[in-house]
Order: sequence, then structure tokens, then C-alpha cells
Amino acid sequence: MEQYVIKGGHPLIGEIEVEGAKNAALSILTAAIMINESIMINNIPDVSDINVLLEAFIIIGATVKRIDRHTVQINGGTIDSVSVNCEFVKRIRASYYLVGALLGKYRKAEVPLPGGCNIGSRPIDQHLKGFRALGADVSVHHGVIVASADNLRGAHIFLDIVSVGATINIILAASLAKGNTVIENAAREPYVVDVANFLNGMGADIKGAGTDIIRIKGVEHLHSKSYSIMPDLIEAGTYMFAAAATRGNVLIKNVIPKHLEAMMTKLKEIGCIVEEFDEAVRVCAKWKLKKTYVKTLPYPGFPTDMHPQIAVALTLASGISIVTESIFENRFKYVDELIRMGAHIKVERNTVIIEGTSKLTGARISVPDLRAGAALVIAGLAAEGITVVDDIIYIQRGYENFEQKLRSLGAKIEKVSSETEIQKFMFRAG
Ligand code: UD1
Repeated sequence: MEQYVIKGGHPLIGEIEVEGAKNAALSILTAAIMINESIMINNIPDVSDINVLLEAFIIIGATVKRIDRHTVQINGGTIDSVSVNCEFVKRIRASYYLVGALLGKYRKAEVPLPGGCNIGSRPIDQHLKGFRALGADVSVHHGVIVASADNLRGAHIFLDIVSVGATINIILAASLAKGNTVIENAAREPYVVDVANFLNGMGADIKGAGTDIIRIKGVEHLHSKSYSIMPDLIEAGTYMFAAAATRGNVLIKNVIPKHLEAMMTKLKEIGCIVEEFDEAVRVCAKWKLKKTYVKTLPYPGFPTDMHPQIAVALTLASGISIVTESIFENRFKYVDELIRMGAHIKVERNTVIIEGTSKLTGARISVPDLRAGAALVIAGLAAEGITVVDDIIYIQRGYENFEQKLRSLGAKIEKVSSETEIQKFMFRAG
């Protein structure tokens, strides 16, 4: 089992490039199997969630060719099964996009109920409601979603909850349905815009992505058009808050600053200097951080996927800060680990109350989920002494070259797989 070992207390300084957005790539790659031609997708992050999805494509017969680390050529024309009958695909949340894509293209899909990070109950009722509104029969048998439709026809769908996954999944199926679909109370996340841009490039007719009303005119066929995935706002945000927590100075390149507004606002509030460029942002934390209140919300609000990272920074801020989680009810498992590191932090219902302290101290901690994992590494970087982080497999789901990138910013972090290696690191780190 691999672990990270970190010698904390070094400010992160330097420049870093952000990869393509994992969440956008997962939906765009799945949309790519809706055509019967070869298509090239660029700027795909090399993270394990993407690799699991590509494996699932191969299992149903699609042709997947890795051109280089960030470019994949896919041909959905060789698909010979609509049954994604493999256990491993459950590991990723986004396996649910296979339902929308296969239902749209073949009018039939069988996909195991999704797993993903254990940050709440994460139902998919809104996805299923959308497919049913489009005329599909949908049921769940022995943990598998079974959807089929003789006629997939456009419908007016009001989402009861703002859901990124349901919005995208309905867009996928409705793009190849007959007639017009309207999604009301749609998610406005940049991922929705990116997948709509991709589909429109392939001949779909989707208007309003990025607003809460999306209109889709179904088309008969989609065609090949290569595409480059948007930059990852959560990876960018993670390095922004890592700079803040370690009192560093980092230029984060290859970003769309507009996507980072909620995070930049909070960083300024807690006392960081934030500079915005065309495709980069700089975060410089010269002084002790200040308290703030933050509530996670659908885009353009503060992202739930940045909750643990800001909470870690706030453990080192002066005063009492409050982080309210309004999207996922079980996103607090990092809190116990931070307590082991000396943080003054507690959870009350969906709120984290943090009394800032002057220092965290290194400890042996374990990662409960992807974003919490990144946040705990930030805590280790900011803490005094040695931190050993177990279960880093979660982090590898969503961060490419995490430790290498942090090292390029001056962090003392290594991936190890034995106690001996930990001892050697400690000896070298002094
Ligand atoms: C996506 C992202 C995830 C991010 C989340 C919110 C991917 C692969 N994952 O997850 O990183 O944290 O958006 O920005 O893109 N809900 C229902 N019924 C549904 C669907 C959702 O009740 O049918 C609830 C969820 O439990 C949650 C809220 O709606 O409370 C938002 O979830 P949703 O936006 O769907 O998250 P995901 O698409 O799973």
C-alpha cells in the first residue's frame, strides 16, 4: 500500500500547470462513444478514475487508443454490448453517464449503480426521473440500472435538486432523442458547459448550458469533432489553498480564472494576495490567515469539492471560522484526522466549526475520500514535523502527479510503500 510521507513547514513557492478537468473528461469521453467514428479527445488528465472509465469502454467493445498521456482516440462504432457488466466500473461515480450515452445511442443500457467517494448517500433518482420523462423504462435489478426505450422523445424536465450528474446525463440521452427537451433547475457548473460545447461540435443542438434552463433539440446523428477538455478548477483550487495554508506564493497556470471566482474571493477574505491573469492566477499568503464563513453551494457558489481544502487553511487562521456543507451530508471524515494533527475543529450537523491555531503538528493520518485526501496532504505540508498519509489511492483518482507537482513547489513529500522507506525519508529530511 502506497503512502505519502511529508516533512511539513515549507512554504510552497513557484509555478504549476493545471491538467484537464477530471469531471468534464468523464462525461465528454462517455459522450464520445455515442458516435460510430473515431474521435480524438485532448487534455485528459492521467488519473485513475479516467482509466477505469476507459476500461469499461473496452469491455463493451469500444476501441480505445491512447495516443499520448493526455490524448485518447475512441471509436464507439465497435461497441457490441450495452451491458456494462463489470464490478470495477462501480468504483467511479461517473459510470452513470454510460446510461445516458447508451440509452441515447442504442435505446438500451445496463450499468451497475455507481459508487465513487463515500461522502453521502448520493442517490440518482433525478437521473432516472429524467430518463423516464424521455420515455424510457428504467428499473434497478440486483444493483444494475436497466433502461430501455422503444421511442426516446423530448420532454420538459424539472430537476428537484440541482445535480451536475443528472443534468449531463439527461443532455446525453436527449441529444439523440426525437424532439425537444427542456431541463429546468439545471446545474450551471462549467462541466455542463464543456460537455454541451463538445456535443454541439459533434452536431448536437444544445442551448443554455451554463444557465438553469437548458434546451436540447434532438438530432439523428452525431459526428466526429476532436476536442480539448477544459482546465480543472478543483485541481487549481487545491493548489491555491495549498499556497494559502503553507504561507506560500504560487502561480497556477492553465486555468480559466472566471471558474475560480468563489475561491479567489475567499482567499482574499482570509488575507491572501490574489492576482488574476488571462490564463493564470497567483496566490500569495504573506501574513497569518484570517477567519471566514463559507457555505458550499452549486456553481457559481463555493464548490463542495473545495470544502476540505479551505477547512484545512482555516485551521491555521486567526479566530473562529465556519464551513457549512450544503451538498453532501457526509463530507466530514477528514475532521478526525485533522484533530490528530492538533487542529481545533468540530462538526455540528452540516457545519464545521474551526478555532484557528498557530500550528498543526505532523501525525499518521488516513485518507477517507479524494478531496479530503488532497486537503490532508495540504495539512501535512503546513504542519510542523513528519506526516504519514495512508490510503493515498483515493487521491490518485483525481490528481495527476500530485507529489511531483508539490515537490516542484518546494514541498518535501515522497510516495513510499514501506516503513523502511519512511525511516529513510525521515533520515534524509533531517
Ligand atoms: C458531481 C461531481 C462531484 C461534485 C458534485 C457537486 C462528477 C463525477 N462528480 O457529482 O465531484 O462534488 O458534482 O458539484 O462530476 N442528488 C440527488 N439525486 C440525484 C442526483 C443528485 O438527490 O439524482 C443530490 C446529491 O446527493 C447531492 C446533490 O444532489 O446532495 C448534488 O449532487 P450532484 O451534483 O448530482 O453530484 P454528482 O453529479 O454525483
